[in-house]
Amino acid sequence: MRLSAGEWIVIVGSALIVLFAGVVGTLIFLKPPPIQFEYIETAVTRQGEALYRREGCLSCHEIFGNGASYGPSLDGVGSKRDKQWLINYLKSPRQGVSPKPYRLKMPPYNHLPENELDLLAEYLMALRVASNPG
Ligand code: HEC
Repeated sequence: MRLSAGEWIVIVGSALIVLFAGVVGTLIFLKPPPIQFEYIETAVTRQGEALYRREGCLSCHEIFGNGASYGPSLDGVGSKRDKQWLINYLKSPRQGVSPKPYRLKMPPYNHLPENELDLLAEYLMALRVASNPG
């Protein structure tokens, strides 16, 4: 049985597609995308997260892709700041702490009791840049 040119094209084309999928599959298997950010959850950070939701922080901030982008993403913020910095910042925020300019201003949360500010800061401190990407 002799194959026509069209049949050869289909056979060779299919073989190339299988080969390509195999190579891509192997590369993905060998090198999964790095996990860039992590959240180290504890009973305390869960209380902080509840306050984060109650205060509507996610109407301006994004964490793991959830929330809006009127302010900077808070992924990894706990690796960038320390707890006292965050508490002070929540009480009296200022512009220009993140590299991009934003049209909206971060509102002050100095009306919250100290223990709630503490819990919010605990939550933010648990949002880390992954120590061991991969
Ligand atoms: C109206 C929008 C808005 C709301 C609501 C808001 N923020 Fe912000 N936030 C911003 C903006 C804008 C900035 C960036 C300020 C700048 O650098 O100019 C910011 C900055 C921050 C930063 C500093 C980020 C960094 O890179 O260090 C933290 C932390 C933060 N916000 C936490 C919170 C928390 C927690 C809440 C809720 C209690 C909250 N924000 C509510 C708009 C908002």
